[in-house]
Amino acid sequence: MSNTAKIIETAYELHIVVPAFNIPYLPMMRPVTQAIIDTGAFALIQVARLEWEKFEAQSLEAVAGEYKKYKDERFMRLHLDHVPAKDEDGQIVDYLPIIRRAIAAGFQSVMIDGSRLDLEGNKNATRSVIELAHAAGLPVEAELGAVLGHEPGPLPPYEELFKSEKGFTDPDMAADFVASTGVDWLSVSIGNIHGAITAAARGKEKPQARLSLERLSRIAKKTGIPLVLHGGTGIRPDNILAGVQRGIAKINIGTAIRAPYEATRQQGEKAACDAVYEATVREIRTLQIEGSAARLSIGAQNA
Ligand code: 13P
Repeated sequence: MSNTAKIIETAYELHIVVPAFNIPYLPMMRPVTQAIIDTGAFALIQVARLEWEKFEAQSLEAVAGEYKKYKDERFMRLHLDHVPAKDEDGQIVDYLPIIRRAIAAGFQSVMIDGSRLDLEGNKNATRSVIELAHAAGLPVEAELGAVLGHEPGPLPPYEELFKSEKGFTDPDMAADFVASTGVDWLSVSIGNIHGAITAAARGKEKPQARLSLERLSRIAKKTGIPLVLHGGTGIRPDNILAGVQRGIAKINIGTAIRAPYEATRQQGEKAACDAVYEATVREIRTLQIEGSAARLSIGAQNA
């Protein structure tokens, strides 16, 4: 199994969170990787299918190419985020060829998102990706429950959504899903929501989210594997840190570094890159992981 699997396992054991930064615009690669290196943090660089379909990441190969230019693997690895079996617009996606391309392009871990399928469909999609990825030595992330927010159309007010527990991950179902698929990492829905991506909503501030820590503890206890928090932008920091103590080992951060890029790009490449650099450093500080690469690499060597 790849070294990324070992690093995330170590992060889970040491309660150090690994942020995964999304790259929807290729020029974001340089400032994001630089911020990771300068703070000594360990992070993943990732791209989701919707970022080459609806933003300007171009293709997973283009992102891998940019990553190779700027990477320093003492501090980072490359991950494939959301490859949906059914996408945010309800379209069925032929996901296995995308996973094959990602393996060929040098991605070091992958996600299959079967959360819009029924439970059996999600399990089958996850198993088929595991078969491919594990044969190449790569760990796999899946999602159970649904982290909402990417779909077109408005979400209900946040507090209403939280109270209704719409899409929240069921702990018993999570235990069964993990046992019957053998997935490495599980994305859970516990109050987190994705930042909106429709053109109309992109400029709007994301509502602050909170987490059901009690539900998270039950999921963690029943699954025993590293858990992933999507929609990492704008969650109450004290809730994130408490979540890391309870089994969150990876947190996805998109909007917090994309919005500054979109807000400053008219001022030129330098202004936009500076804004992305500062936002990335800010997120790393909030997560309290400056210098985490050294702690994780020592831990992974001893594991
Ligand atoms: P945010 O854009 O809300 O940070 O979410 C990112 C994400 O979860 C990508 O998978």
